[in-house]
Amino acid sequence: MIWAGRARPRLAIGTLVIATALLALAAACQAAPPAPTASQDPPPGPDLVEPAVQTSTDGLLQTTLTAALGPVQVGGRQVTTTTYNSSFPGPTLRVRPGDELRVRLVNQLDGMTNLHTHGFHTSPLGFGDNVLHHLMPGQTWELEFGTLDDHPPGLYWYHPHAHGDSDEQVSGGMAGAIINQGAIDELPGIAGLTERLLLIQATQFAADGTAVPPLDQQPDAETRYINGQVNPTIRIRPGETQRWRIGNISSDDWVDLQLDGHQLHQIAADANPMDRVVAQDNVLLGPAERAEVLVQAGAAGSYELRTMPFQGEPEAVLATMVVEGEPMNPQPLPTTLLPFEDLSVLPIDRERQITFQILDGPEFVIDGQEFDPTRVDQLVQLGGTEEWTINNATSSWHPFHIHINDFQVVAINGQPYEARGHQDTVPIPPNGSVTMRTRFLDFPGAFVYHCHILGHEDAGMMGLIEVQE
Ligand code: C2O
Ligand code: CU
Ligand code: CU
Repeated sequence: MIWAGRARPRLAIGTLVIATALLALAAACQAAPPAPTASQDPPPGPDLVEPAVQTSTDGLLQTTLTAALGPVQVGGRQVTTTTYNSSFPGPTLRVRPGDELRVRLVNQLDGMTNLHTHGFHTSPLGFGDNVLHHLMPGQTWELEFGTLDDHPPGLYWYHPHAHGDSDEQVSGGMAGAIINQGAIDELPGIAGLTERLLLIQATQFAADGTAVPPLDQQPDAETRYINGQVNPTIRIRPGETQRWRIGNISSDDWVDLQLDGHQLHQIAADANPMDRVVAQDNVLLGPAERAEVLVQAGAAGSYELRTMPFQGEPEAVLATMVVEGEPMNPQPLPTTLLPFEDLSVLPIDRERQITFQILDGPEFVIDGQEFDPTRVDQLVQLGGTEEWTINNATSSWHPFHIHINDFQVVAINGQPYEARGHQDTVPIPPNGSVTMRTRFLDFPGAFVYHCHILGHEDAGMMGLIEVQE
């Protein structure tokens, strides 16, 4: 494999041609009706089970996450892997605006770790969302995220972010959801719907149940899990609408979602409500991206939720939707949701160009350099509005993510793009670019932007930004 090293051999040069062909094929398939169920598809598994939920009492959610290697049930078998609280994925933390969140992180691993709250608009300093702090084995850290007043409602997630170890720990299962409630939950057509959480992880366990190190995993030998289950069954009545919160919390797998015979009516991207509903046949989620969709069930029957081939990763059935029971009168789906602040019309203080590259070696770099926590790559003024163009000088997709402040995509490959909301992660097309606008509000300090394929991030495809007053 030409691109061995810290990054996984996702796309050796020889497979690029195939990957491109697969992309074209995937695009061609979008117009066609879903293929009949292939005989090799796994049989539907047990009913979908969601991770345990922890909620606040008296405005405070205080919880302990213990990172440890140990026996865990995954996909109906016992494996030995790294998780939080022996749960794959970890517990769901459910908060309301005004709630204070405190997490006691206990490191029982034999290596470093820390905790990142992906999508949070909070301080990157001290005991906040500080990924530059690494917790040594045996250490405990009390994290304080303050109140979540300024956070849009939606699906956030938590995961470790110790440079060099992120891929292995997240791939092993260290990741979980944070759900913030809010205005979108009260909208007509959304309020009162049955809600489901679908957290997608992908990894490979050896015959003896140990997790295969990310470097040695192969896309076609991995299993895609939803909430740690293989092909769970999601039940719904004919005509019923359900709200699915879907998170791709895998360390480096892409998900191109399709639901046989049904459209996905997207209402949120990352933890940001959209201004209106967008009906889609496919929803592409790069590593770390989330989407919330409404699904309105058709006639009784079984329908598969699949991920389609993407960038060398094979098609897989993720879950089976079983439509059964007393039919319901289909209710009209909402059309208009919540307005967002349109950054495309604001004056900008500064423009920047950022370039993702893979140099011979391979070296995974941004603007020619591997990550160095002692070097500030972007110095930014607090309160400033900036426009960044993220260039991808490679022939594969990379998901760009920045901490602390969300952004609005304003152009893709130089073509103006009409965003439906803000987001915190965006896939950058091969040999293309995404232009986004963001405002560095409220929080001074240093934090990071990076490729969210964690093998790339660990190998150096990350930069340091410092927001100064
Ligand atoms: Cu999901 Cu830098 O993080
Ligand atoms: Cu993040
Ligand atoms: Cu990358």
